Amino acid sequence: MRNLTLLLLCGLFSASVSAADAVSGATAKAPASSVMPENVDAVTSASVVPAAHRQTVKPNGFTKSDKKKVLFVVGDPRHESVEWDLVNTAMAHFMKKGLEVELRDLYEIGFSPVLPRESFFHAKDGFGKAPEDVAREQPYVAAADYIVFAYPNWHDSPNAIVKGYMERVFSKQFAYRDTEKGLEGLLKDKAIYTIFNAGWIGQGRGDVGDGIGKSDAIWDRYLNAYKVVDDDTADFWGAKNLGRFANDQTPANLSKNYDKEIEALRADLRKKLDKVFGL
Ligand SMILES: Cc1cc2nc3c(=O)[nH]c(=O)nc-3n(C[C@H](O)[C@H](O)[C@H](O)COP(=O)(O)O)c2cc1C
Repeated sequence: MRNLTLLLLCGLFSASVSAADAVSGATAKAPASSVMPENVDAVTSASVVPAAHRQTVKPNGFTKSDKKKVLFVVGDPRHESVEWDLVNTAMAHFMKKGLEVELRDLYEIGFSPVLPRESFFHAKDGFGKAPEDVAREQPYVAAADYIVFAYPNWHDSPNAIVKGYMERVFSKQFAYRDTEKGLEGLLKDKAIYTIFNAGWIGQGRGDVGDGIGKSDAIWDRYLNAYKVVDDDTADFWGAKNLGRFANDQTPANLSKNYDKEIEALRADLRKKLDKVFGL
């Protein structure tokens, strides 16, 4: 009897923490294979926006104007993903509303996310000169009013390349400093926001409170957990956290209604940006 109860409990536990990819909306479960399939885009469990529906958006770049400036820090190797579609949608929307947009595509520029020993004390204490690649990034952050971090959900935190950008670029004496009263954030006039496509975090779309009536308690639990982390990250830098646009309603890659579904997702993002950024 005890064994039976244990078995039942194990079953329940594995169901409630079922792997995100196994239930991701993007495709049916991908078959396991020890060789790379030739038609990987057709069989992957990752999202693939069909070629006919992809968009390419060119950022207008920062100038010396007094227009609000949005810096996108993007960590996603696949430009055909829904994550990139959200980035393109958001960049286009900000530009349409008269803001300036700058993009740091971290895979494209080959950003190294590892904080090595040689520059550890620069990041930790602000000692010495910033490494060249960090010195190249900091002016983008300094010029921005809004910093949008964009990455797919890979094990529930900023993915490595974006996390490394935070660790290396937001160094002491640049993003925060010691004072008699403790740490002081130096990015006071700025706000951060996150755009985040996910495999399974409760099937909602948006932020806390934006569940769609299916697994709202789980959705809010996840989004509240991210909020704790985002609030603290922003606070450390003296900035404001404007929240997240998380999506757990990815159209199935082969959906017959793909055009309608991707347009609905884009519209939801635009609506959220209007509200959060007062566009
Ligand atoms: C290494 C890895 C880890 C992942 N871990 C999670 C996870 O913890 N939670 C989740 O919701 N999805 C997880 N996923 C699934 C992705 O979030 C999902 O595939 C989503 O569609 C990613 O967005 P994209 O397809 O637009 O890149 C993971 C995917 C990868 C590649």
